Amino acid sequence: MSEDLYREIILDYYRHPRNYGSIENPDIKAKDSNPLCGDVIEIQIQLNEDNRVEKVRFNGKGCAISQASASMLTEMTQGKTLDEIRNINKENILEAMGTPDLGHTRIKCALLSLKVLKTGTYSYLGGEVEVDDHGGVRI
Ligand code: FES
Repeated sequence: MSEDLYREIILDYYRHPRNYGSIENPDIKAKDSNPLCGDVIEIQIQLNEDNRVEKVRFNGKGCAISQASASMLTEMTQGKTLDEIRNINKENILEAMGTPDLGHTRIKCALLSLKVLKTGTYSYLGGEVEVDDHGGVRI
């Protein structure tokens, strides 16, 4: 796909975010911000009895890249087990956004939602989350 088309897709997700909102009594809930700009993402998940994602929502405020990537991530997460969520990595997000060569600053925008998702998942599972210098989450 061309760069223009990816840009269109990102803007479409930004303007019409899929899975935007919140869940009453979510099993997993995490929120974080990008310290450089203050933009915020919160992700909430409701699990079914097989520990699969039954429902996932995000909300927050920020740039087109952070909001679009959060929306795309909720789509990737839907129906997955927590183990499968642990395997989602930054390449998956960047590939979905068509932006493997984002600059350092924009990478932080694109990966904020992944950091939130991993933080929520790991604290639900009782594990530790380590964040690297590039805003990525070590898993
Ligand atoms: Fe704040 Fe992108 S400019 S997350």
